[in-house]
Amino acid sequence: MVARLLSVGTRVISVDIGEAATGADLPLLTSRVIDLVNLDGLEHMVASLPSFSGWVNCHYPRPRDWGLRSGERPDVWPGVIQDHLVSYCLLSQFAAEAMAARGGGSIVNVGSIYGLVGPDDALYAGTDMTMPAPYAAIKGGIGAYSRLLAVRMGKAQVRVNTVAPGGVEAQQDRRFKRRYAVRTPLGRMARIEEVVAPILFLLSEGASYVTGTTLIVDGGWTAR
Ligand SMILES: NC(=O)c1ccc[n+]([C@@H]2O[C@H](COP(=O)([O-])OP(=O)(O)OC[C@H]3O[C@@H](n4cnc5c(N)ncnc54)[C@H](O)[C@@H]3O)[C@@H](O)[C@H]2O)c1
Repeated sequence: MVARLLSVGTRVISVDIGEAATGADLPLLTSRVIDLVNLDGLEHMVASLPSFSGWVNCHYPRPRDWGLRSGERPDVWPGVIQDHLVSYCLLSQFAAEAMAARGGGSIVNVGSIYGLVGPDDALYAGTDMTMPAPYAAIKGGIGAYSRLLAVRMGKAQVRVNTVAPGGVEAQQDRRFKRRYAVRTPLGRMARIEEVVAPILFLLSEGASYVTGTTLIVDGGWTAR
């Protein structure tokens, strides 16, 4: 994401819990190594950044055993909801307020197709992967909150949208990848740049009349 933003001439501030993940070796405007689920410091952190006109929430806080069956244990729910959903909502609010004070801007929250449709659990059969139920609640909530904020901040010229990607190809189980490809109209998982490009669009002036929407980037998965 950071590399692609830089490649189109954007000045980038990168914030991540891991120093390497901020892209600190790239020509950033600045970076911060911060735990974004620490709600106490969030408002101050956003206010302390250099002026910005776009904001993308794409951090992914999750327990180590996330994606395994334990992801659905009752004691896991409150933590993941707070860490993921609540931090996305509060960061969106603080970023929107900061941009409103400077004449406007664009917020993109990374959601998921699983905030829109139920999973196909057959994809995971025989693997140690699963789609943890709290993820659907989190991603559905991110889309709903983004619409609320779009309505509240529209007059301040702050646009707020969600991108809902399908699965991005990585080191997943080969059986999962094969089934995913068969299930998807475009016949494969997403490449990361195919998710970043729609985010760039929503940040750009080309999307100046687009707010409160969810842009689905899923190779046709949800068209079925
Ligand atoms: N990978 C996929 O297939 C896929 C599909 C749909 C949606 N998404 C969404 O895309 C977003 C990014 O996912 P990803 O697969 O690139 O994840 P990732 O784990 O590769 O990257 C997430 C980043 O978040 C950072 N991070 C984690 N916890 C943090 C914290 N507490 N504070 C600050 N930074 C923190 C990590 O260091 C990492 O750099 C997430 O919202 C995820 O739900 C991913």
